[in-house]
Amino acid sequence: MIRTVILGVGNSASALVQGIEYYKKIENNKGKTDEYGLWHPLVGNYKISDIDLVGAYDIEKNKIGLELNKSIFSSSNKLEKFVDLDVSSINVEPGLLSDDNMNENLQSSIEFSNESGFDPFMESEFHNSLKKKNPDIVINLISSGLHKSSEKYAEISADIGSSFINATPTSIATNESFIKTFKDKKLIVVGDDLMSQFGGTAFHKGLMNLMHERGIRINKSYQLDVGGGIETNNTVDEDLRILKRKVKSNTIESELPYDVQTVSGTTDYVDFMGNSRTNYFWLEGDSFLGSKVRFDIYLRSTDGPNAGGLLLDIIRGIQYSHDMNEYGGIEELSNFGFKSTITNNNLRQSYQNFSKKYIL
Ligand SMILES: NC(=O)c1ccc[n+]([C@@H]2O[C@H](COP(=O)([O-])OP(=O)(O)OC[C@H]3O[C@@H](n4cnc5c(N)ncnc54)[C@H](O)[C@@H]3O)[C@@H](O)[C@H]2O)c1
Repeated sequence: MIRTVILGVGNSASALVQGIEYYKKIENNKGKTDEYGLWHPLVGNYKISDIDLVGAYDIEKNKIGLELNKSIFSSSNKLEKFVDLDVSSINVEPGLLSDDNMNENLQSSIEFSNESGFDPFMESEFHNSLKKKNPDIVINLISSGLHKSSEKYAEISADIGSSFINATPTSIATNESFIKTFKDKKLIVVGDDLMSQFGGTAFHKGLMNLMHERGIRINKSYQLDVGGGIETNNTVDEDLRILKRKVKSNTIESELPYDVQTVSGTTDYVDFMGNSRTNYFWLEGDSFLGSKVRFDIYLRSTDGPNAGGLLLDIIRGIQYSHDMNEYGGIEELSNFGFKSTITNNNLRQSYQNFSKKYIL
């Protein structure tokens, strides 16, 4: 079993928890999970039922102390209920908050628990609690922009002997010092900033790929994202918006072998959109005789499930790599599943590298 701990019981965590339950039942009934929307039934020969959730942490008052399967449906989470869940043996425990300069949007959307926070006592409590769970993998799904908290979680995970997945844009798996720490302890670190299975970034990169392969010289493109939920409200904060825009634009530009003017970022927060997101794309390129080709299209998707399926692949990929005695950063996993990576994460090449290694 792959002992897994979740940090941040938000919408992505909800999709992950619901997805594990949903696909485990299909596997138990000898059904084919890929017929029910799972991208990869097996990753390195691991099934979904090989994943065992053993702990969850958050800092929100209304989530801590609740049983995990209730906590994922607390009012601040917007992802709907897809699955009837049995009672979980996991209670959400208080996490750490090492950032004292949280932006106003995030501060106003989270009702903090007094039990979480940051002082040496809480750190040692958290450390002991996590160690007792003896996880193989810790997944960092906390709100973006809390860089110190994400770094502290990575540090403690390495210390207690767990590999680490960083879904946030904080530089962890792209930080040489963290890579060395995990490698020296024969652990794995992958990230940063999850790339949704079929979200704006993958779609934008895919469109560019298609145009390029059909001989269109792309000149310019932009992508404007609108969504709801705490995380979108958080990312319209100016500092975070700039960081997210840089990460997204970089990965999209890296798709082509020449320079292209691209802008991609979160444009606005629309409360009633809940966990859904709309991405508006505009692309322009030159075709034969310099004639213009232009796209003006949009994509609608749901953030949580867009993260859930991908995370299930990454969890199983890490375990398989660990079985193969691979440690430190794993390029094939980071480039497949994340936007901010050390080496080029060209969509098609990254997928080929991932499937060659993990889809046996
Ligand atoms: N498709 C996707 O959902 C997607 C794609 C790319 C990146 N990500 C990243 O994944 C992360 C989670 O996204 P989400 O949509 O689930 O966000 P969310 O806002 O729904 O959930 C975040 C949760 O983390 C908790 N939290 C905040 N600080 C914490 C701390 N210090 N310790 C423990 N818990 C803490 C919040 O209370 C909340 O419950 C974000 O960093 C986001 O950028 C998600």
